[in-house]
Amino acid sequence: MKNLLSIEELSGDQIKELLAIAHRLKHERGAHREQPLAGQTWVLIFAKSSTRTRVSFEVGISELGGSPMFLSTRDIQLGRGEPIKDTARVLGRMIHGAIIRTYEQQDIIDFADYSKLPTINALTDLEHPCQILADLLTIEEIYGVGSYKGMKIAFLGDVDNNMGRSWMWAAKHLGFQLCLAGPRAALPSEATLAAINYDGLTCTTDAAEAVRDAVVINTDTWISMGQESEKGSKEQAFFPYQVNAELLRHAAAKHSVFHCLPAYRGYEITDDVLEGHADCIFQEAENRLHAQKAILYKLATQ
Ligand code: CP
Ligand code: NVA
Repeated sequence: MKNLLSIEELSGDQIKELLAIAHRLKHERGAHREQPLAGQTWVLIFAKSSTRTRVSFEVGISELGGSPMFLSTRDIQLGRGEPIKDTARVLGRMIHGAIIRTYEQQDIIDFADYSKLPTINALTDLEHPCQILADLLTIEEIYGVGSYKGMKIAFLGDVDNNMGRSWMWAAKHLGFQLCLAGPRAALPSEATLAAINYDGLTCTTDAAEAVRDAVVINTDTWISMGQESEKGSKEQAFFPYQVNAELLRHAAAKHSVFHCLPAYRGYEITDDVLEGHADCIFQEAENRLHAQKAILYKLATQ
């Protein structure tokens, strides 16, 4: 594994290996025997806002012996139009790895190609692989290692966004049932479904049907970063897919509510549901650190 650019390009075995490393690193936190990033500088190049991803990567790099360097695209020449391939070739001669949050998936592919550095997708419009690895780690902690196999997982709201696509590929690679529910216009296209080609992936406009007997119920903001101008036109159509107490009556008796955060209470999730499931949701947020340390470890030690 040279880079971590998407869940799509991983295999089930690679995901399982990353989860196993993450469990170990979480257990050993504060007493790591190895410092695989010693003497290395890893850059974070972010074109979008971040709390969890930035902090967890900066802390994780430090805990594995390396030095993080945060660069906002507002401050570097990339933001003034210097091509990504030139930025990549400069940084490739100075640093040891890159973590990029941006819009176009092609930009991180180009960065990896031109820099030759191990490169990690910290969220693009296409995928959010680091979040899904943290979510899978959380499922294993709550329900057991490998418990996702055959599990019914529901994702409601803006399901064809970066989170939804990473969930879809994870379902195929790991063999869980994923039911997506949202307004018809927000469901994945036939082309997307054909590309994934997985029988365990279903789509519905009926929120209750998606949640029925689901063990994990996920949601995410209805307005992803970069889509702010669509707020007014989009929101009304999504209210039937709000994760609220009434909807959760359809879920499995022992269920968990996941949210990648940041959450917009009163929109995709109600305040009472978020607070009622806060232990799980903030465990999920903490697991960003452990899952990403596993990615860094794997990229630095092979
Ligand atoms: N979930 C997530 O990626 O959070 P941030 O945008 O705060 O990094
Ligand atoms: N879908 C959201 C995820 C935020 C972590 C976004 O892209 O803004």
